[in-house]
Amino acid sequence: MLYEIQTYGKDILRQKTEKIGNIDDSVREIVSNMFETMYAAEGIGLAAPQIGKSIRLFVIDLSPIDESEKKRVFINPEIYEYGKETEDIEEGCLSIPTVREIVTRPARIKIRYQTLDGQHVDEEVDDFLSRVIQHEYDHLERTLFVDHLSTLKRSLLKKTLNQISRGEIEVEASENYEL
Ligand code: NI
Repeated sequence: MLYEIQTYGKDILRQKTEKIGNIDDSVREIVSNMFETMYAAEGIGLAAPQIGKSIRLFVIDLSPIDESEKKRVFINPEIYEYGKETEDIEEGCLSIPTVREIVTRPARIKIRYQTLDGQHVDEEVDDFLSRVIQHEYDHLERTLFVDHLSTLKRSLLKKTLNQISRGEIEVEASENYEL
């Protein structure tokens, strides 16, 4: 089942997310539908608020750009350490169609989360996966990548963001691997 991707301006993207208790069939079904929705939009990351659910869950699949990668599910994630070194990388977001900007973020993070099997994992991550995790984690923290931009950059985007809020720009699959 495909979910409708919630776009910039929708309240759900700014709502507090709840921890997931039991990882039961309903959670497994949401995860399966999220992957389906993400692949249909040709995205490589998708967080639960983007499909209208205020729960602490996101999915990532970097295999289209790195064949050694596979599907990853992050349940109740917590980034508990950010490295000092930063990187500038261009980002896009399925919820903010047509907008792509350079965002500065820490290169390396440490994260704790649960897998779909309920296993607790503690990982140190760098490179592009670290970037994608930070973007998706932000969605759970009610933050969008445009929030990280300078006031000047944001003001230049204002017209486009308003158009997205009014539903004048729709989500379309793109070759840009949106998050
Ligand atoms: Ni996003």
